[in-house]
Amino acid sequence: MTDLFPDLETPVPIVDLDRLERNLDRAARYAAEHRLGLRPHIKTHKSPRLAAEQLRRGAVGLTCATPFEAEVMSDVASDILLAYPPVGTLRARRVASLPENVRLTVALDSATAADDLAGAARAAERTIAVYVELDLGMHRVGLPVVDDAIALARRVRDAKPLAFGGIAFYPGHIREAVDSQDAKLDNLRTALSEALERFERAGLSPRSVSGGSTPTMWRTHEIPGVTEFRPGTYIFNDRTTAEIGACAWEDCALTVLATVVSTAVPGQAVIDAGSKALGREPLRGSGGGDDGFGSLLEHPEVVVKGMSEEHGVLDLSRTSWRPAVGERVRVIPNHVCIVVHLNDVVFGTRGGGVETSWPVTARGRGYAAPLGADYERAGTP
Ligand SMILES: Cc1ncc(COP(=O)(O)O)c(C=O)c1O
Repeated sequence: MTDLFPDLETPVPIVDLDRLERNLDRAARYAAEHRLGLRPHIKTHKSPRLAAEQLRRGAVGLTCATPFEAEVMSDVASDILLAYPPVGTLRARRVASLPENVRLTVALDSATAADDLAGAARAAERTIAVYVELDLGMHRVGLPVVDDAIALARRVRDAKPLAFGGIAFYPGHIREAVDSQDAKLDNLRTALSEALERFERAGLSPRSVSGGSTPTMWRTHEIPGVTEFRPGTYIFNDRTTAEIGACAWEDCALTVLATVVSTAVPGQAVIDAGSKALGREPLRGSGGGDDGFGSLLEHPEVVVKGMSEEHGVLDLSRTSWRPAVGERVRVIPNHVCIVVHLNDVVFGTRGGGVETSWPVTARGRGYAAPLGADYERAGTP
């Protein structure tokens, strides 16, 4: 019987530190080689300690999605991009209240977000740079019409203390295998170069052009004009990233350590990692189909075919391996960011031993009760 990390209770996320360091170094080397600014998205790890490692290896700054992430990361970073529209005065005020030493940039795509942010920046008496977000194919946020983006950039330029800092886009629609991305990358290149030309002609030369994702990260240099890229998942990688060839199986640094709790039903084994440990995330980019919710590090052919909240059902139909009750396994999740977000703490391992642990400091929202509210005294629900 395998006796993996017997000191750790399961289910628990563990990170192979050798793999983690290799992932960090590989990205840093790629960025340096292509003279690209690496601005990692910290939503994957939500840990100031890991963010500090990314910065120590040359990252130009960090990317965050939530105000709480930015607050936590301002302990270790002096350059933060909030790649999420700060709509609403509460959110805008919170963003503008980040420590003054932080060079702050915000990506947005509407006059409403720009006006909210301008008001908050004025009240806080601080300059905030703005990236105008373009939709280059993902169809989530971002302006699809360049003239509208130019109009928004002008509005930002005229709304001191905001400053027009450049353009952002997210190629999240490109999730196919790395060597099958050509057609979509072609479209993206064309759309971006047209947009850049129009911005130049309008006298709005973007200082920065911020793009990038993990599925496209090793091809970022093939998109002329991009100055910085924002991969997040690459620090740990996951089953989806390996599936599309943006990393090797051996580059998956984070696994969920789990214990087999039942083998009573023939053809399957049940582990203590269910949807509250793994997340109910599909295998993205695999062209659909029923691919389960994760698979085993040592037996990739064994997938988690079903889940309850605290049970994960391993499909043993494609293996002769038969685990015993009590045996420990490591699951590579489909989407690692969700797994981290479900946990308070992550353990770092090297060889067969546990070396360290770190809290997932920026998980949650970090909401405070509104000023003056006293909900505790208002009675129990
Ligand atoms: C705006 C933005 N930038 C960058 C990223 C990082 O993408 P990935 O996790 O694929 O590296 C994300 C991921 O959700 C994102 O939403």
